[in-house]
Amino acid sequence: MTTIVSNQASVADTLGRPMTDLRISVTDRCNFRCTFCMPADRKYNFLPRPHILSFEEVSRLARLFVAMGVEKIRLTGGEPLLRSEIEKLIASLAAIDGVDDLALTTNAYLLEEKAAMLRQAGLGRVTVSLHSLDPELFGQINGLGLDLAKVLRGIDAARRAGLNPVKLNVVVMQGVNDHEIVDLARYARETGCVVRFIEYMDVGTVNQWDPNKVVSAQQIIKTVDAALPLEALGKMRPGEVADRYRYRDGGGEVGVITSVTQPFCGDCSRVRLSAEGQLFTCLFSSLGHDLKTPLRDGASDQELTERVQAIWRGRTDRYSEERSAALRRGEFVPTDKVEMFRIGG
Ligand code: GTP
Ligand code: 5AD
Ligand code: SF4
Ligand code: SF4
Repeated sequence: MTTIVSNQASVADTLGRPMTDLRISVTDRCNFRCTFCMPADRKYNFLPRPHILSFEEVSRLARLFVAMGVEKIRLTGGEPLLRSEIEKLIASLAAIDGVDDLALTTNAYLLEEKAAMLRQAGLGRVTVSLHSLDPELFGQINGLGLDLAKVLRGIDAARRAGLNPVKLNVVVMQGVNDHEIVDLARYARETGCVVRFIEYMDVGTVNQWDPNKVVSAQQIIKTVDAALPLEALGKMRPGEVADRYRYRDGGGEVGVITSVTQPFCGDCSRVRLSAEGQLFTCLFSSLGHDLKTPLRDGASDQELTERVQAIWRGRTDRYSEERSAALRRGEFVPTDKVEMFRIGG
């Protein structure tokens, strides 16, 4: 793999991986309780307001990350649309020179009312989590019986507002929603969205992950291909999470995210900033690196940059590769990991 050094502050980790994608979690709260992320039968302690980075703090850090080589920024949560006046943060991130791609991952429950405003503020596109088209099952998966129709209207509003391509993330779970793979693919084709099927992952500690619940990307593609013939396109750029396929009849694209059966740590260039100002170098990290304390203690841009560079230079993460190897050997043991809703996937 070649590392392109785009500017002086760029860094590579111990495996030569650059830091090009920044995922910013703006809140740990969510209006859903998805079974595979935040099961509804548990209590959660959310961050008190003073612990959460302000928009000014986030924007300052984002500017420094862009100077270090970040080109893509994605806002996540919890549910990012719960953060009030999120459009103000979007506007200030959109104004940073060098951000090629500004996206947001949402459950779309509040998207119908916010899509146009988000676009106007400078958001490029959205990715919507949509795990079922059956209202009853949708309500079960979101843990609270919430309305599917509202989410579908949100997707429609995003398309009309120009937040394209709208991508749909589907977490596929054996015996839960795997019978809907073709329906979801058809829905995406018909609405002009790009669907991405995600292998169910062992994120966090509360979802009682079981490898037997994983439907492999290979199986997913086989299922779609049998109904809607596909051809492989591969990845669009190094570090991308989805393996892409296109319909042979020209009807669009499908992606699969193979982090269990074919991990993609080798070129992982993603860095994650939590709402609390901790930096995580892997989705499966147990510990973050505190940036909020130096930020609030008056550290200079140079000092903050050096801190981030040192963290990234020391990065060795390749959790999904290690987990998959352990599963093959029959030696998988769950570890303590940050919860998904704290770092936004
Ligand atoms: P695009 O920029 O549109 O390709 O989106 P993205 O893939 O960067 O963002 P998105 O949040 O939609 O990612 C889809 C899902 O892939 C995430 O929600 C995670 O479930 C999974 N994923 C993303 N990044 C990683 C990663 O670094 N490691 C692992 N194991 N899974 C990831
Ligand atoms: N496995 C795979 N994907 C998950 N997501 C949440 N929990 C899991 C899991 N256990 C997805 C969400 C969202 C994205 C941020 O991650 O549905 O689309
Ligand atoms: Fe579901 Fe996303 Fe909320 Fe987790 S953060 S409960 S995956 S909507
Ligand atoms: Fe990157 Fe960690 Fe995911 Fe591997 S498991 S792709 S290192 S975030």
